[in-house]
Amino acid sequence: MTDTDALDRRLLDVALEAARRAGTLLRDGRPEDLTVAATKTSPIDVVTEMDLAAEKLITGYLAEVRPDDGLLGEEGASREGTSGVRWVIDPLDGTVNYLYGLPSWSVSIAAERDGVAVAGVVETPMRGETYHAVRGGGAFVNDRAARCRPAPQDFSQALIGTGFGYLTERRAAQAEVARQLLPQVRDIRRAGSAAIDLCDVGCGRLDGYYERGLNPWDRAAGVLFAREAGALAGGRPGSPAGDDLTVAGSPGLFEPLQALLEDLGAWHD
Ligand code: IPD
Ligand code: CA
Ligand code: CA
Repeated sequence: MTDTDALDRRLLDVALEAARRAGTLLRDGRPEDLTVAATKTSPIDVVTEMDLAAEKLITGYLAEVRPDDGLLGEEGASREGTSGVRWVIDPLDGTVNYLYGLPSWSVSIAAERDGVAVAGVVETPMRGETYHAVRGGGAFVNDRAARCRPAPQDFSQALIGTGFGYLTERRAAQAEVARQLLPQVRDIRRAGSAAIDLCDVGCGRLDGYYERGLNPWDRAAGVLFAREAGALAGGRPGSPAGDDLTVAGSPGLFEPLQALLEDLGAWHD
Protein backbone atom coordinates (compact mmCIF):
# COMPACT_ATOMS: atom_id res chain seq x y z
CA MET A 1 0.00 0.00 0.00
CA THR A 2 1.42 3.42 -0.92
CA ASP A 3 1.53 6.31 1.55
CA THR A 4 -1.33 8.08 -0.25
CA ASP A 5 -3.45 4.89 -0.19
CA ALA A 6 -2.87 4.66 3.56
CA LEU A 7 -3.78 8.33 3.99
CA ASP A 8 -6.98 7.88 1.98
CA ARG A 9 -7.95 4.90 4.19
CA ARG A 10 -7.35 7.03 7.28
CA LEU A 11 -9.48 9.81 5.81
CA LEU A 12 -12.24 7.26 5.16
CA ASP A 13 -12.12 6.11 8.79
CA VAL A 14 -12.45 9.72 9.96
CA ALA A 15 -15.39 10.31 7.58
CA LEU A 16 -17.09 7.10 8.76
CA GLU A 17 -16.82 8.12 12.40
CA ALA A 18 -17.98 11.71 11.79
CA ALA A 19 -20.94 10.53 9.69
CA ARG A 20 -21.88 7.85 12.24
CA ARG A 21 -21.93 10.41 15.07
CA ALA A 22 -23.95 12.95 13.07
CA GLY A 23 -26.36 10.27 11.83
CA THR A 24 -27.01 9.11 15.39
CA LEU A 25 -27.59 12.69 16.55
CA LEU A 26 -30.05 13.33 13.72
CA ARG A 27 -31.92 10.04 14.18
CA ASP A 28 -32.12 10.07 17.99
CA GLY A 29 -32.22 13.81 18.58
CA ARG A 30 -34.99 14.84 16.18
CA PRO A 31 -37.47 16.88 18.21
CA GLU A 32 -41.12 15.82 17.80
CA ASP A 33 -42.04 19.45 17.17
CA LEU A 34 -39.17 20.18 14.75
CA THR A 35 -39.72 23.45 12.90
CA VAL A 36 -37.93 25.58 10.35
CA ALA A 37 -35.16 27.64 11.98
CA ALA A 38 -34.40 29.84 8.95
CA THR A 39 -34.71 30.03 5.18
CA LYS A 40 -31.84 30.42 2.73
CA THR A 41 -32.07 30.97 -1.03
CA SER A 42 -35.90 31.02 -1.10
CA PRO A 43 -38.83 30.60 1.32
CA ILE A 44 -38.85 26.81 0.63
CA ASP A 45 -35.08 26.38 1.10
CA VAL A 46 -35.17 25.61 4.80
CA VAL A 47 -32.71 24.88 7.57
CA THR A 48 -33.56 23.31 10.93
CA GLU A 49 -31.71 23.49 14.22
CA MET A 50 -30.65 19.88 13.51
CA ASP A 51 -28.82 20.78 10.25
CA LEU A 52 -26.82 23.27 12.30
CA ALA A 53 -26.22 20.89 15.22
CA ALA A 54 -25.04 18.12 12.86
CA GLU A 55 -22.60 20.43 11.06
CA LYS A 56 -21.26 21.65 14.41
CA LEU A 57 -20.72 18.09 15.59
CA ILE A 58 -18.90 17.10 12.36
CA THR A 59 -16.67 20.18 12.22
CA GLY A 60 -15.89 19.89 15.94
CA TYR A 61 -14.80 16.27 15.48
CA LEU A 62 -12.71 17.12 12.41
CA ALA A 63 -11.02 20.01 14.25
CA GLU A 64 -10.02 17.53 16.94
CA VAL A 65 -8.66 14.74 14.73
CA ARG A 66 -7.59 16.63 11.55
CA PRO A 67 -6.80 20.20 12.73
CA ASP A 68 -4.74 21.13 9.65
CA ASP A 69 -7.38 20.27 7.03
CA GLY A 70 -9.68 22.68 5.20
CA LEU A 71 -13.48 22.58 5.44
CA LEU A 72 -16.48 23.42 3.28
CA GLY A 73 -19.86 22.82 4.91
CA GLU A 74 -23.32 23.70 3.63
CA GLU A 75 -24.28 25.54 6.81
CA GLY A 76 -21.32 27.90 6.68
CA ALA A 77 -18.28 25.93 7.82
CA SER A 78 -15.36 27.26 5.83
CA ARG A 79 -11.70 27.01 6.64
CA GLU A 80 -8.52 27.07 4.61
CA GLY A 81 -6.27 24.21 5.60
CA THR A 82 -2.55 23.67 5.30
CA SER A 83 -2.49 19.88 4.73
CA GLY A 84 -3.87 19.70 1.15
CA VAL A 85 -6.97 17.87 2.46
CA ARG A 86 -10.40 19.52 2.41
CA TRP A 87 -13.63 18.12 3.85
CA VAL A 88 -16.83 18.75 1.90
CA ILE A 89 -19.83 18.30 4.18
CA ASP A 90 -23.59 18.19 3.82
CA PRO A 91 -24.59 17.60 7.44
CA LEU A 92 -28.18 16.76 6.46
CA ASP A 93 -29.03 16.07 2.83
CA GLY A 94 -32.78 15.79 2.43
CA THR A 95 -33.76 18.40 5.00
CA VAL A 96 -37.33 18.64 3.71
CA ASN A 97 -37.79 14.86 4.15
CA TYR A 98 -36.30 15.12 7.64
CA LEU A 99 -38.60 18.02 8.53
CA TYR A 100 -41.67 16.01 7.51
CA GLY A 101 -40.51 12.75 9.11
CA LEU A 102 -39.84 10.99 5.81
CA PRO A 103 -36.92 8.55 6.02
CA SER A 104 -34.88 9.54 2.94
CA TRP A 105 -32.17 11.76 4.37
CA SER A 106 -28.45 11.35 4.82
CA VAL A 107 -25.19 12.75 6.11
CA SER A 108 -22.68 13.24 3.30
CA ILE A 109 -18.96 13.71 3.95
CA ALA A 110 -16.13 13.64 1.41
CA ALA A 111 -12.41 14.21 1.78
CA GLU A 112 -10.63 15.84 -1.14
CA ARG A 113 -6.88 15.66 -1.59
CA ASP A 114 -5.51 18.40 -3.84
CA GLY A 115 -9.03 19.05 -5.12
CA VAL A 116 -9.90 15.41 -5.94
CA ALA A 117 -12.40 13.41 -3.85
CA VAL A 118 -10.50 10.44 -2.39
CA ALA A 119 -12.83 9.20 0.36
CA GLY A 120 -16.59 9.54 0.75
CA VAL A 121 -19.32 8.44 3.12
CA VAL A 122 -23.09 8.77 2.82
CA GLU A 123 -24.74 7.67 6.06
CA THR A 124 -28.46 6.79 5.98
CA PRO A 125 -29.59 5.98 9.53
CA MET A 126 -33.20 5.23 8.57
CA ARG A 127 -32.07 2.72 5.92
CA GLY A 128 -29.43 1.28 8.22
CA GLU A 129 -26.90 1.62 5.39
CA THR A 130 -23.55 3.35 5.16
CA TYR A 131 -22.27 3.91 1.63
CA HIS A 132 -18.52 4.36 1.50
CA ALA A 133 -15.77 4.51 -1.06
CA VAL A 134 -12.09 5.26 -1.40
CA ARG A 135 -10.73 6.35 -4.78
CA GLY A 136 -9.44 3.24 -6.56
CA GLY A 137 -10.66 0.98 -3.74
CA GLY A 138 -14.23 0.15 -4.75
CA ALA A 139 -17.57 1.07 -3.22
CA PHE A 140 -19.27 -0.63 -0.29
CA VAL A 141 -22.70 -0.68 1.34
CA ASN A 142 -21.92 -1.51 4.95
CA ASP A 143 -19.50 -4.41 4.31
CA ARG A 144 -20.88 -5.51 0.91
CA ALA A 145 -19.28 -4.48 -2.37
CA ALA A 146 -21.61 -2.26 -4.40
CA ARG A 147 -22.06 -2.49 -8.15
CA CYS A 148 -24.24 -0.47 -10.52
CA ARG A 149 -26.78 -2.38 -12.64
CA PRO A 150 -26.13 -3.41 -16.23
CA ALA A 151 -27.65 -0.80 -18.55
CA PRO A 152 -31.20 -1.68 -19.58
CA GLN A 153 -31.56 -3.22 -23.08
CA ASP A 154 -33.42 -0.14 -24.18
CA PHE A 155 -33.37 3.45 -22.92
CA SER A 156 -37.16 3.27 -22.54
CA GLN A 157 -36.61 0.73 -19.70
CA ALA A 158 -34.52 3.09 -17.58
CA LEU A 159 -35.49 4.20 -14.07
CA ILE A 160 -34.08 7.70 -13.60
CA GLY A 161 -33.76 9.72 -10.41
CA THR A 162 -33.69 13.50 -10.33
CA GLY A 163 -34.26 16.45 -8.04
CA PHE A 164 -35.41 20.05 -8.16
CA GLY A 165 -33.84 23.22 -6.80
CA TYR A 166 -35.43 25.76 -4.48
CA LEU A 167 -35.83 28.69 -6.89
CA THR A 168 -39.18 29.02 -8.68
CA GLU A 169 -37.72 29.89 -12.08
CA ARG A 170 -35.28 26.98 -11.91
CA ARG A 171 -38.01 24.57 -10.89
CA ALA A 172 -40.14 25.59 -13.86
CA ALA A 173 -37.24 24.82 -16.22
CA GLN A 174 -36.53 21.52 -14.41
CA ALA A 175 -40.19 20.53 -14.66
CA GLU A 176 -40.08 21.14 -18.42
CA VAL A 177 -37.04 18.84 -18.79
CA ALA A 178 -38.79 16.16 -16.70
CA ARG A 179 -41.96 16.56 -18.79
CA GLN A 180 -40.01 15.75 -21.93
CA LEU A 181 -37.95 12.95 -20.36
CA LEU A 182 -40.79 11.07 -18.63
CA PRO A 183 -42.44 9.62 -21.77
CA GLN A 184 -39.04 8.31 -22.92
CA VAL A 185 -38.15 6.23 -19.83
CA ARG A 186 -39.66 3.60 -17.49
CA ASP A 187 -40.23 6.17 -14.76
CA ILE A 188 -38.74 9.05 -12.78
CA ARG A 189 -38.04 9.14 -9.03
CA ARG A 190 -37.68 12.25 -6.85
CA ALA A 191 -36.58 10.88 -3.51
CA GLY A 192 -35.29 14.13 -1.95
CA SER A 193 -31.61 13.48 -1.17
CA ALA A 194 -29.13 13.93 -3.99
CA ALA A 195 -26.44 12.05 -2.04
CA ILE A 196 -28.73 9.01 -1.68
CA ASP A 197 -29.78 9.23 -5.36
CA LEU A 198 -26.12 8.99 -6.42
CA CYS A 199 -25.55 6.04 -4.06
CA ASP A 200 -28.69 4.37 -5.44
CA VAL A 201 -27.10 4.50 -8.90
CA GLY A 202 -24.02 2.82 -7.41
CA CYS A 203 -26.15 0.15 -5.70
CA GLY A 204 -28.17 -0.67 -8.83
CA ARG A 205 -31.38 0.82 -7.42
CA LEU A 206 -31.58 3.43 -10.16
CA ASP A 207 -30.28 3.16 -13.73
CA GLY A 208 -29.37 6.84 -13.82
CA TYR A 209 -29.70 10.19 -12.09
CA TYR A 210 -29.35 13.81 -13.08
CA GLU A 211 -29.86 17.19 -11.46
CA ARG A 212 -29.11 20.80 -12.26
CA GLY A 213 -27.93 23.13 -9.50
CA LEU A 214 -26.26 20.78 -7.02
CA ASN A 215 -23.59 22.20 -4.74
CA PRO A 216 -20.27 20.43 -4.07
CA TRP A 217 -21.53 19.12 -0.71
CA ASP A 218 -24.57 17.45 -2.33
CA ARG A 219 -22.50 15.39 -4.77
CA ALA A 220 -18.88 14.99 -3.61
CA ALA A 221 -19.29 11.71 -1.69
CA GLY A 222 -22.08 10.30 -3.89
CA VAL A 223 -20.25 10.82 -7.18
CA LEU A 224 -17.16 9.06 -5.80
CA PHE A 225 -19.35 6.18 -4.57
CA ALA A 226 -21.18 5.84 -7.90
CA ARG A 227 -17.89 5.83 -9.84
CA GLU A 228 -16.24 3.30 -7.58
CA ALA A 229 -19.32 1.10 -8.06
CA GLY A 230 -18.69 1.09 -11.81
CA ALA A 231 -21.05 3.87 -12.86
CA LEU A 232 -20.07 6.84 -15.00
CA ALA A 233 -20.55 10.38 -13.72
CA GLY A 234 -20.08 13.78 -15.29
CA GLY A 235 -21.75 17.02 -16.22
CA ARG A 236 -22.47 18.32 -19.71
CA PRO A 237 -20.81 16.21 -22.42
CA GLY A 238 -17.03 16.47 -21.99
CA SER A 239 -17.27 18.23 -18.61
CA PRO A 240 -17.02 16.97 -15.06
CA ALA A 241 -20.05 17.00 -12.76
CA GLY A 242 -20.59 20.61 -11.80
CA ASP A 243 -23.07 23.05 -10.35
CA ASP A 244 -24.76 23.41 -13.76
CA LEU A 245 -25.38 19.67 -14.21
CA THR A 246 -24.60 16.37 -12.52
CA VAL A 247 -25.34 13.13 -14.39
CA ALA A 248 -24.61 9.55 -13.26
CA GLY A 249 -25.55 6.19 -14.71
CA SER A 250 -24.51 2.71 -15.65
CA PRO A 251 -22.12 2.54 -18.64
CA GLY A 252 -24.33 2.28 -21.74
CA LEU A 253 -27.13 4.27 -20.09
CA PHE A 254 -25.06 7.25 -18.98
CA GLU A 255 -24.04 8.27 -22.51
CA PRO A 256 -27.54 8.48 -24.08
CA LEU A 257 -28.89 10.09 -20.90
CA GLN A 258 -26.19 12.76 -20.95
CA ALA A 259 -26.77 13.39 -24.69
CA LEU A 260 -30.54 13.66 -24.23
CA LEU A 261 -30.14 16.06 -21.28
CA GLU A 262 -27.90 18.21 -23.46
CA ASP A 263 -30.61 18.30 -26.16
CA LEU A 264 -33.27 19.12 -23.56
CA GLY A 265 -31.15 21.97 -22.15
CA ALA A 266 -31.11 20.46 -18.66
CA TRP A 267 -28.10 22.58 -17.65
CA HIS A 268 -29.86 25.95 -17.85
CA ASP A 269 -32.95 27.64 -16.43
C1 IPD B 1 -31.25 19.04 -1.46
C2 IPD B 1 -31.51 17.58 -1.73
C3 IPD B 1 -32.48 17.43 -2.88
C4 IPD B 1 -31.99 18.12 -4.12
C5 IPD B 1 -31.68 19.58 -3.84
C6 IPD B 1 -30.70 19.70 -2.69
P1 IPD B 1 -30.72 19.73 1.10
O1 IPD B 1 -30.31 19.20 -0.40
O2 IPD B 1 -30.30 16.92 -2.07
O3 IPD B 1 -32.69 16.06 -3.23
O4 IPD B 1 -32.97 18.01 -5.12
O5 IPD B 1 -31.10 20.13 -5.01
O6 IPD B 1 -30.46 21.07 -2.41
O7 IPD B 1 -31.18 21.15 0.94
O8 IPD B 1 -31.78 18.82 1.61
O9 IPD B 1 -29.42 19.60 1.80
CA1 CA C 1 -27.98 18.88 0.12
CA1 CA D 1 -28.22 20.04 3.62
